[in-house]
Amino acid sequence: MIQSSSNSPRQSENAATVTATAHPNIALVKYWGKASEARNIPAVGSLSLTLDGLATTTRVAAADEDRFELNGDTDASMGQRAFAFLDQYWPGRPALDIASDNNFPTAAGLASSASGFAALTLAVDSLLDGGRDRESLAQCAGSGSGSAARSLFGGVVRLDPPAQRDGDIRVRQVAEASDFPLELVIAVTSAARKPIGSTEAMRATAATSPYFDAWVRDQAQDLDAAEQAVAARDFDALAAVTEKSCMKMHAVMLGNDPWLLYWNAATVACIHEVRVLRASGLGVCFTIDAGPQLKAVCLPEDADRVAETLAGVDGVTDVLRASLGRGAFLHSA
Ligand code: DP6
Repeated sequence: MIQSSSNSPRQSENAATVTATAHPNIALVKYWGKASEARNIPAVGSLSLTLDGLATTTRVAAADEDRFELNGDTDASMGQRAFAFLDQYWPGRPALDIASDNNFPTAAGLASSASGFAALTLAVDSLLDGGRDRESLAQCAGSGSGSAARSLFGGVVRLDPPAQRDGDIRVRQVAEASDFPLELVIAVTSAARKPIGSTEAMRATAATSPYFDAWVRDQAQDLDAAEQAVAARDFDALAAVTEKSCMKMHAVMLGNDPWLLYWNAATVACIHEVRVLRASGLGVCFTIDAGPQLKAVCLPEDADRVAETLAGVDGVTDVLRASLGRGAFLHSA
């Protein structure tokens, strides 16, 4: 796995630089669709695993003008999105120099926006005021990218939509990483940026998919089933609800007009392999996000076998491994 690059010379000279790292998270019960686009409030709750190994590291310093670099390059569109987000939460903020590095492919369905907004929120909060608790940081990060709210917490995390209109999302840890030590094996089938971002795709789903209302209606049931499975350390029950939620989310977007499918042939081949492995008695199930990578959730003792098998599937270009990790954190100065 590629490691994040070192500080740029411009920033390492600046004593008032704050650095934060956040890990991506992978939802087992999926977020898809928004109740409010203006506030980026999800229409449904979700339950996720925060990973270790994969990471976004973001350095922020006050500057004379706004600058944004992603993986060492100026990125105008991500910069615009990041600064518009910061203006909402820190109106009147100073100009900022932001440098962010991912040690994994960006915008390819590996949740880089989750770790990106979580690291950015924590770093800017610490640089400018430092007063927010985790729950408020999650509110803030979630308005940048819905899934980012979950990366503020480690282990297994549940996000519930607001209890009433205009309310806030509620995010909490349901298990520590060490309580249920699952492993992730990620079969990368394409490192290309996805053709349609999840924000735009969700908008199309809400506007055109005939299955959207049913998706929203049944979500609470899936969330409760997943949380109970985690509490009981019941891998089979967790596997069942994980695959159900994944397939329902992709079915909902297949119903978009025009239809939307993020998978490629290798994604489908990996689904079949996981099914065969589970039938042979291994603790493994799959989930897939807004991209063609397959994420296999495994019991630790079975992860090597799963990784070997998925690495041999035609079209799999890389296999990444991660276990469960901690929520976003600051580096000491
Ligand atoms: C398929 O959090 O990227 O990964 O709020 O529009 O930025 P925005 O969406 P984003 O969507 C994640 C969707 C998903 C499922 C999930 O992570 O729950």
